[in-house]
Amino acid sequence: MQSQGVFISFEGIDGAGKSSHIQAVADAFRQEGRQLVQTREPGGTPLAEKLRELVLHDAMDPLCEALLVFAARRDHLQQVIEPALARGDVVLCDRFTDATFAYQGSGRGFDLAVLSQLEHWVQAMPDGGLRQPAMTLWFDIDPGVAAQRLASARLPDRFESQPRAFFQQVHHGYEQRALADPGRFARIHADADLPTVRQSVLDALRQRGYLSGAAE
Ligand code: TYD
Repeated sequence: MQSQGVFISFEGIDGAGKSSHIQAVADAFRQEGRQLVQTREPGGTPLAEKLRELVLHDAMDPLCEALLVFAARRDHLQQVIEPALARGDVVLCDRFTDATFAYQGSGRGFDLAVLSQLEHWVQAMPDGGLRQPAMTLWFDIDPGVAAQRLASARLPDRFESQPRAFFQQVHHGYEQRALADPGRFARIHADADLPTVRQSVLDALRQRGYLSGAAE
């Protein structure tokens, strides 16, 4: 029997540490025999990766930024995400539209109503519904702790180089999205140590029935 496709996104401010946990989640699904697509936004297709380079490194106004991340998302959905879900794969996506509401919306202060309009254009499904992840793991971390982690990281991009106040806004943006859709969001307390965070991530996926209940 073909498995049902599952779309899971990973979100959080820069420095929240989500990337290392995506790998653990991928390993857990593979161990259960699932076919998996691991991808990211902006990016995930040749065109969207080019747009990512522009968004992360070239100066532009907030409307340009919002249009480019949604253009990248459209290509990603059509070329990668929808075909994978139709095959019954698990799609693990490092960021999706919640990042646009948090960074371009709350962070840059761009009009949330325009972002909602773009979301409806780009994520419309043939049955009239809106494509969203089935589950979003939100790595919730204090912006001060995240800033300390980032300080020792590589050369910052256009977002990573923003001041602490920007990330406080972005954090608030994620909180608003999570409050608006509590059934989809799982809030992971990401300032704990790595093994503890990893355990909460796997527990959250088990609680929702995406991974089997068996202990590791
Ligand atoms: P990130 O996911 O943190 O990748 P890496 O770990 O390689 O740095 O970087 C992507 C950046 O893009 C991040 O700072 C958030 C930003 N972003 C937006 O501003 N809007 C969006 O819609 C998305 C998907 C990402």
